[in-house]
Amino acid sequence: MQDDVAKVLVSEEEIEKKCKELAQQIEADYQKKGQVPIIVGLLKGSVPFMAELIKYFTFDCEIDFMKVSSYEGTRSIGDVRIDMDMTLSTKGRPILLVEDIIDTGRTLVSVKKMFKNKGATDVKVVSLLDKPSRRTFDINADYVGFSVPDEFVVGYGLDYNQKYRNLPYIGVLKPEIYED
Ligand code: XMP
Ligand code: MG
Repeated sequence: MQDDVAKVLVSEEEIEKKCKELAQQIEADYQKKGQVPIIVGLLKGSVPFMAELIKYFTFDCEIDFMKVSSYEGTRSIGDVRIDMDMTLSTKGRPILLVEDIIDTGRTLVSVKKMFKNKGATDVKVVSLLDKPSRRTFDINADYVGFSVPDEFVVGYGLDYNQKYRNLPYIGVLKPEIYED
């Protein structure tokens, strides 16, 4: 698996350092507002990032997960299919959504709209990665770990055909892997 990687974009050490910084910043912001959010990870890509991030929170946090697919094509923006729902109630609660990467922004637009419809009072987003050059929807994460170029990346939760999620860093695969 490691042999399939052409280059490492973000190392494990850089990710860990960034998670600590993000967690401190996020916690300070919520403390200022006097809020405790439900931390919701979008499956499957957010799992390693969320695990690393929440280690550094010192508030009593509640976590949950959901799996969604956002529609593409002719359907209106903001539609989202829930493949697996969370178990906690979002009504009247602030939400901190955890994403692996923001690409076009479609997923984020849809999921934010869904949480508002489900009665969340506030929805903030933390994403490990951001690909700003690919954005087609006018939306950004509130907290971003790293900006990456327009290349397909894997590792730390991100997959290619469901593989490579367990790599402890963010990398780019050798071209022949994508061509096979
Ligand atoms: P949108 O376009 O909705 O996309 O912002 C977000 C989702 O697209 C996937 N994605 C990637 N997955 N490497 C991946 O493994 C990438 O480089 C990549 N770019 C986008 C990902 O599922 C993300 O949640
Ligand atoms: Mg994803």
